[in-house]
Amino acid sequence: MNIKNKFFLNNLFNKKKPIVCLTAYCKNIANLVDQFADIILVGDSVGPVLYGYKSTREVSLDLMINHGKAVVNNSKNAIVIIDMPYGSYEKSKYLALKNANLILKKTGAFGVKLEGGMEISETIKYLVKKKINVMGHLGMLPQKIKKNQFKVYGKSDVEKKRFKRDAISLVDSGVFAIVIEATKEKLVNEIIKDINIPTLGIGASSNCSGQILVTEDILGMTNFNAKFVKKYIDLNKKIKSSIRKFSIDVKSKKYPQKKHLY
Ligand code: KIV
Repeated sequence: MNIKNKFFLNNLFNKKKPIVCLTAYCKNIANLVDQFADIILVGDSVGPVLYGYKSTREVSLDLMINHGKAVVNNSKNAIVIIDMPYGSYEKSKYLALKNANLILKKTGAFGVKLEGGMEISETIKYLVKKKINVMGHLGMLPQKIKKNQFKVYGKSDVEKKRFKRDAISLVDSGVFAIVIEATKEKLVNEIIKDINIPTLGIGASSNCSGQILVTEDILGMTNFNAKFVKKYIDLNKKIKSSIRKFSIDVKSKKYPQKKHLY
């Protein structure tokens, strides 16, 4: 573990202020997010957000590695975590280790994130034993849904029991933090009070140790309108208006002017 990483982990555990976590997939956004976030997640949401995939299940390992490299190379303050994509870790702990090592070696990221609870706890234990920093992800799990089946987690008794069981098993497996997505607030509050590692909420609870959102969602560049999204600007509208102006300028020969030419 390098000095930056050691420092980060100590800091994360002792933080008085909530942890700020945002996604980034490319150089420009990484540069901006890096100025304010403690953690940057190269999420597999890159598939739906940048490529228009129907779900995160279509995202490949190569895609994650390429975007991971761009983000790591363009952030100097935040710790970068990369999502292990669907199909890259579920079958066996050996496959998970091979792919996690590939991601970390090729990108230089701090760690990886895997979705799931007890069913992957042996795999996580194995990764942690092999010195991989692992972030967990519980609640609504995007890799489990095929398309447009977004559903709040933790309403039924089965889900409530499973959530408790999964949270305990992730902590025991050695994850350094857990993302909790779209889960009933009361259930989250009940569980996180007994958890001694940082939790990052996304539609979970304001009592989590920090909050995470997809940057393109808060910038108004997607049409994703889950309750937890807070849109700070409507960039789509602004971009559209600029593109329209350019198109008018070209058609009316207002662009280029002398100052734009050699
Ligand atoms: O892929 C992603 O962006 C995520 C966050 C939304 C937590 O997993």
